[in-house]
Amino acid sequence: MKKTDQKNIEEIIRVDHAGERAAIKIYEGQLLALKTIKQDKVLRDKIEEMKQQEKEHLEYFEKEIQKRKIKPTYLLPLWDIMSVTLGFGTAVLGKKAAMLCTASVEEVIEEHYENQLKKLGNNEKDLKEKIKKFKEDETNHKNIAHNAGATNKGLYSILDKIIQTGSRIAITISEKI
Ligand SMILES: [Fe+2]
Ligand SMILES: [Fe+2]
Repeated sequence: MKKTDQKNIEEIIRVDHAGERAAIKIYEGQLLALKTIKQDKVLRDKIEEMKQQEKEHLEYFEKEIQKRKIKPTYLLPLWDIMSVTLGFGTAVLGKKAAMLCTASVEEVIEEHYENQLKKLGNNEKDLKEKIKKFKEDETNHKNIAHNAGATNKGLYSILDKIIQTGSRIAITISEKI
């Protein structure tokens, strides 16, 4: 049976830890805007619910980081600032932009988790199961965002590209450092 080597496992956990943390920060940025200058209780509740799931995801990777003594990415402070800013900024732009942000990010994460599932061998059953479950959650978040009005038509397509390209770059960097 296929086995995943140690270096790959470290990269997988490091980047997923960073990504789940970033997801929470994006939602925190959005919630901040939705509680202040862009009050929207309905959207807030949706986001709170998704954030709760991201917390479960993050907790899992935090435990794995400690258990396996993996170094988290050095760039966590930078990702924190960028994620909160992205969340806050998109929520200020409006509901469509806020939901597009979720849809764009989740699409990248879905693909990212799918790639990891292909890489993971049977020596990492638990990790594989968890990523499978988290991937389903992210797909669900993406669908929630589409149902709540996410659109990538017109100018929104530019935002979509920026967010997706940014997320992919962040993923590549966070695997390595
Ligand atoms: Fe997540
Ligand atoms: Fe998510």
